Amino acid sequence: MTQINAQCRLAARPVGLPTASDWDYVEEPAPEPQDGQFLVRVEYLSLDPAMRAWMNAGRSYIAPVGIGEVMRAAGIGTVVESRHPLYNTGDCVQGVFGVQRYAVSDGGGVAQVDMALAPPPVHLGALGLSGLTAYFGLLEIGRPEPGQTVVVSGAAGSVGSVVGQIARIKGARAIGIAGGADKCAWLVDELGFDAAIDYKAGDTAAQLRAHAPGGVDVFFDNVGGTVLDDVLTRLARGARVVISGAISQYNATEAPRGPANYMQLLVARATMTGFVIFDYAERFPAALAELAAWLRSGELRSREHVVEGDIEQFPDVLLKLFRGENTGKLVLAI
Ligand SMILES: NC(=O)c1ccc[n+]([C@@H]2O[C@H](COP(=O)([O-])OP(=O)(O)OC[C@H]3O[C@@H](n4cnc5c(N)ncnc54)[C@H](OP(=O)(O)O)[C@@H]3O)[C@@H](O)[C@H]2O)c1
Repeated sequence: MTQINAQCRLAARPVGLPTASDWDYVEEPAPEPQDGQFLVRVEYLSLDPAMRAWMNAGRSYIAPVGIGEVMRAAGIGTVVESRHPLYNTGDCVQGVFGVQRYAVSDGGGVAQVDMALAPPPVHLGALGLSGLTAYFGLLEIGRPEPGQTVVVSGAAGSVGSVVGQIARIKGARAIGIAGGADKCAWLVDELGFDAAIDYKAGDTAAQLRAHAPGGVDVFFDNVGGTVLDDVLTRLARGARVVISGAISQYNATEAPRGPANYMQLLVARATMTGFVIFDYAERFPAALAELAAWLRSGELRSREHVVEGDIEQFPDVLLKLFRGENTGKLVLAI
């Protein structure tokens, strides 16, 4: 019997925060896999701040989602029908299947999910692109040394929470910047951060002065805007500023603002370097093995914020990222 597919398609390019009219919800028969293809029933969708950037036209590291196309999304699901020699019915697989209930794939970019290692949502978080982003951004660009001070913004999110923990594993001090007392308490009490700064509570620069009197050796920035401005004033000599993202700017209706205090890079003889995680793809297996080992030993803790729902709820759930309503990896279980 043909299954009914449900899809969320991009209807318009948003101005500011996406609204209901930027999306189309469509139901239609699920596609039939052809020779060399298989059909996946998608069960977990990864929600990522980058989705907002993919909705914009213009130059980026990846092509925008076209108007009328199914919204791009990474996900995990089960193979329900296969005409592919390497995939069998019942396999749990991960890939960029889109915001839809059923997806056809030829196996390109698809990986088997090792369920013995961890449940599916973890493979979208600490053992997925978030963990890898933390791993390569911190270790390749931030290069913290034992005893140095690492500051990470968006610290209670999927990437940020792993950054601080890897910093601790490597013998550095970890200071997180996050919104709200609960998130800050979680970072220190549960994840072992040395300190946490609630940027919503007031003077971030003053709090940084108190927690990092010797300056900041590595700043892993997920947020941009005023948080970046504040941390730039506290750089130690030779600091590395890692540009992972700038979520405070993703819904801006005017041109994104650049760092106000960038001359502090000169004063501190510091560098500021951006990166795109896909450039490290060849090294993903080795990095995932190390992340998995830390997870098994208990040195790394993973948290997923799983929302149960269906495809139709995707637009609302996505907004949680921009409202700071998630702690850890935001996943929609459908
Ligand atoms: N370079 C790469 O290859 C790469 C790959 C993946 C992800 N990233 C980037 O990594 C960053 C984190 O992604 P994630 O998936 O881990 O998301 P996340 O941190 O789990 O979720 C987003 C968090 O950002 C914070 N936030 C939202 N609006 C903000 C604002 N205006 N000012 C300050 N903070 C705000 C919120 O936390 P609070 O409650 O603390 O405000 C929210 O919970 C993003 O910038 C993303 O684009 C980069």
